[in-house]
Amino acid sequence: MRLLNASGCLDALVAPEVARSLDAYVTKTVTPLPREGNAPVRIAETELGMLNAIGLANPGIDVFLEQHLPRLAELGVPLWVSVGGFSLEDYVHVAGRLAPRDEVETLELNLSCPNVDDVPENVGEVVAAVRAVTSKPLYAKLSAAVADLGATAKAAETAGADGLSLVNTLKGLALDERTLQPVLARGAGGLSGPALRPVALAAAHTCFRETRLPIVGMGGVARGRHALELLAAGASDVAVGTALFADPGAAGRIRSELEAELVALGFVSPDNAVGVAHGSGPPDPRPEVETRVSKIPAY
Ligand SMILES: Cc1cc2nc3c(=O)[nH]c(=O)nc-3n(C[C@H](O)[C@H](O)[C@H](O)COP(=O)(O)O)c2cc1C
Repeated sequence: MRLLNASGCLDALVAPEVARSLDAYVTKTVTPLPREGNAPVRIAETELGMLNAIGLANPGIDVFLEQHLPRLAELGVPLWVSVGGFSLEDYVHVAGRLAPRDEVETLELNLSCPNVDDVPENVGEVVAAVRAVTSKPLYAKLSAAVADLGATAKAAETAGADGLSLVNTLKGLALDERTLQPVLARGAGGLSGPALRPVALAAAHTCFRETRLPIVGMGGVARGRHALELLAAGASDVAVGTALFADPGAAGRIRSELEAELVALGFVSPDNAVGVAHGSGPPDPRPEVETRVSKIPAY
């Protein structure tokens, strides 16, 4: 199991030591052209999580390649670049520019941003077109807010994705206490944090059944137990997003909490917990030797 950050939730150039506490660093989504993003207010807190409407603010692929990537490569952490766009051509352009760069380990296609107006409709088409321009591992980042997540995940698999990142934020709204007007300038925004945990579990559970793709599970992970449950639902790696804003040291803490959870339930390693929510259950708590002895037929 690898522990990653969720895209957009950590600026490694501002907090390199936090990035180094992860097994891989995922960039904020990069688009062909620079974007200022949406007007402020772009972040709001709610009782159950955080709302953001950043709107894919990023320097654009040219500046990213020239200025950001060389500095990110110095971190010494495997780099995943999140690729975004507003048309199939946008995704192909950004992925094609990243393809020859050895500093980049994996591409994550952001096919699910709730804060822009033109999101791609056809996940399979985008994945297939990007697959044609790069041999790098390709993860499709999906939203749980699609009509049939299992079918969408399958389409990504058929089109050549190597993995799934689940889930992106869900659309939510916060109203000002006094004026009852939307807090975010854009109105609604993407809900992340604790409210997403059951959504992320269901998404990982569905896609583990419907595809054979490895899954990066994310959505409200703040404790080792949350990571464990995502593994059990079917994720093989876990990403931390909103929790990093409150606790930049979350990665180390989550790892040690997870270790304790695994030991308490008798799992030898995180990988042994992957998919156990699908019927295999935790290992027999009795010591192995005793189990074996008790199974020897009397003779
Ligand atoms: C402030 C903020 C910015 C985000 N920016 C991106 C982004 O650029 N690309 C992307 O794919 N997801 C983005 N996300 C979504 C996260 O990567 C993640 O899917 C989501 O927040 C759920 O995880 P969490 O509950 O642990 O935060 C953003 C989330 C937040 C809170």
